[in-house]
Amino acid sequence: MLSIDSTAVQNQTGQQYLPSTDHTQGVRSPNQELLPLSAKINSHDCLEIGGCDVKTLVEQFGSPLYILDEETLRTACRQYRDAFAQYYPGESLVLYASKAWNCLAVCAIAASEGLGIDVVSGGELYTALQAGVPGNKLYLHGNNKSIAELALAIENNCTIVVDNWLELETLANIADEPIRIMLRLTPGIECHTHEYIRTGHLDSKFGFDPNTLDEVFAFVSQHPTLNCIGLHAHIGSQIFESQPHKDLPGVLVDYLTKAYRYDLPIQELNVGGGLGMRYTESDDPPSIDEWVKGVCEAMVKACEEQQLPLPRLLSEPGRSLIGPACVTAYTLGSYKTIPEIRTYLAVDGGMSDNPRPITYQSVYRAVVANRMSAPLTQTVTLAGKHCESGDILIKNATLPETEPGDVLVVMGTGAYNYSMASNYNRLPRPAAVLVNAGEAELILERETYQDVIRLDRLPKRLV
Ligand code: LLP
Repeated sequence: MLSIDSTAVQNQTGQQYLPSTDHTQGVRSPNQELLPLSAKINSHDCLEIGGCDVKTLVEQFGSPLYILDEETLRTACRQYRDAFAQYYPGESLVLYASKAWNCLAVCAIAASEGLGIDVVSGGELYTALQAGVPGNKLYLHGNNKSIAELALAIENNCTIVVDNWLELETLANIADEPIRIMLRLTPGIECHTHEYIRTGHLDSKFGFDPNTLDEVFAFVSQHPTLNCIGLHAHIGSQIFESQPHKDLPGVLVDYLTKAYRYDLPIQELNVGGGLGMRYTESDDPPSIDEWVKGVCEAMVKACEEQQLPLPRLLSEPGRSLIGPACVTAYTLGSYKTIPEIRTYLAVDGGMSDNPRPITYQSVYRAVVANRMSAPLTQTVTLAGKHCESGDILIKNATLPETEPGDVLVVMGTGAYNYSMASNYNRLPRPAAVLVNAGEAELILERETYQDVIRLDRLPKRLV
């Protein structure tokens, strides 16, 4: 088994992951924390989130369990909104990129904080509508939208972010009354993130090639039913550098000057999302406030240079809003020690509830929720329960001594975990609870085996 530096053990308890209590600079930006803002260690040495003891939550709701802290999510929404109000002299709107976690409760919370919602499919759109979000605050994305998806958006008065020529032509054919569209353009901005989550470089499947702008704008200007209110670009996700997002407004404003030559009624520019969050101690993303300030200043400067009035400024954060607000609680089960090599500890979930480690080699941190102050004495590999060797949640996790039945909490699992969850190996998807001020409410029921076979059909001759 790998051993860890014993001098480090003293200080390295669950305490190290708690949010900073130094509020001299105001409330910390949730995306710079490893645990949700409400996280505490209680008198039973257990992790508490939203005033709820995590071990008790697992006893009550089962495991794996997504635990979503309402305070952290609402704080992040307000920090985005307030920062735009502070740094941008024009109008602004923050859209929650709901692909990060789309469900009724999360859409309702984002909307109640005054955010619009970015949806990328009929399913996400339907969910947001069912959550009560008004259509005029919904923006439909997607690089291959179906006619049915477009029709659902049109019926509900949503804005459609048009991605390509086929979509533009389809809309021109089906719209008999003016519909609100934006055009998604590839900005040609590189950023350093995993290649699967980079979208702004020219060789991307998303958006119109900027070399074809004249043709696109000319086409739109000849179709009065295409009411083009804005331009959109998104450069990628989990970005820590500030410069790419500061460069983006200049690129969009250049495109805008071109669009004005075609008399397009553009009032909105959308800079997408992409601000990163902290998954490990070495991750150092800018705060929400710094990120918004950078974008706003760059937009004001670009507009001044081109002598254009300030557009309505939209942004579309997903990960930095919801990611830090959630943890996943698992129950520890079997273990295997291979002398001189490693110890595997297995949890009761894995790649089906968090496919990010196997997909992007993402690194997470974990604590044992019922032993928060115990010294860290072992380095283990945390394995999922799927029939796949690559189903490893965390390599070399430093933990206290553990026993089967202990509750392991993986931090920072709000973004792209539930939304990318699967039923691989026919595992029912976990439940999710919303915690706040000592109350826990179910926002996603745990799937049952009946749910797992709900859509199976057995032809009679096979029975
Ligand atoms: N807007 C557009 C057009 C996007 O494509 C995305 C993310 C966002 C906004 C939100 O970006 P965020 O603020 O969350 O970085 N599954 C991957 C992430 C894929 C991101 C896709 N697009 C992951 O787990 O890392």
